[in-house]
Amino acid sequence: MSMLKSSVGRKVIMAVTGLILILFITGHVLGNMSLYAGPDGINAYAVHLRDLGPLLWVVRLVMLVVFVAHIWLGISLTLENRSARPVSYTQKVNQKTSFAAETMIVSGLVILVFVVYHLLNFTLHAVGVPAGTGELMDAAGRFDVYTMVVTSFKQVKLNVLLYVVGMVALFLHVSHGFQSWIQTLGWNNTRTLPAFTKVSKLYAFVVALAYISIPILALAILKA
Ligand code: HEM
Repeated sequence: MSMLKSSVGRKVIMAVTGLILILFITGHVLGNMSLYAGPDGINAYAVHLRDLGPLLWVVRLVMLVVFVAHIWLGISLTLENRSARPVSYTQKVNQKTSFAAETMIVSGLVILVFVVYHLLNFTLHAVGVPAGTGELMDAAGRFDVYTMVVTSFKQVKLNVLLYVVGMVALFLHVSHGFQSWIQTLGWNNTRTLPAFTKVSKLYAFVVALAYISIPILALAILKA
């Protein structure tokens, strides 16, 4: 447990859990792109996921532990950093920092609220899903994920807003987070850091844009 006590140990856990979360959001956005192949694309993809059976539950459990650990340590490191500096600097000189870096705790908490809403929305169909849409089946007898997602965005405008806000927070968080795990693990140097920073921002931008395209295109052009 000494790893949890030292702040370096906790930063390493933040970095490793952050990397696993990055793998998850990458996999999830690629899976979501199957929506653009129409109902046959995403409905078949959802069946494949469910076919994993017990393995799906193992992955879900691991992801839950990783997510909770990342949030817990993120909050505790932020609180400690604050109490280590009880009196704020009269003249705060930020060395090479950015808006994204300064607001990690805020963007992180917005993502947490987003994920809770998202699970209530598309997994449990408890909020933001028009009546009856959560139980639809397609012609092949599969759960109609396509119609549920597209109709929800078309009919519940609040969904579009919440997803866009969530994805802006995801962009900010990942654009800083991606490069900071490289720093924590010590794989950076003055030559590689600027390149990592660029890759990090580009990655976050592409992923956030791909996610955001779904509510926007559902609202604008996709037919349900
Ligand atoms: C426009 C953006 C997004 C769309 C359209 C979307 C769509 C979906 C859908 C349809 C499901 C349910 C799949 C099913 O039950 O068959 C789902 C599950 C999920 N999504 Fe997303 N998602 C989006 C963004 C995100 C983001 C940014 C995250 C994480 C930061 C996320 C995390 C999850 C999680 C944890 C689940 C539950 C997975 C499970 O059931 O095991 N989603 N998403």
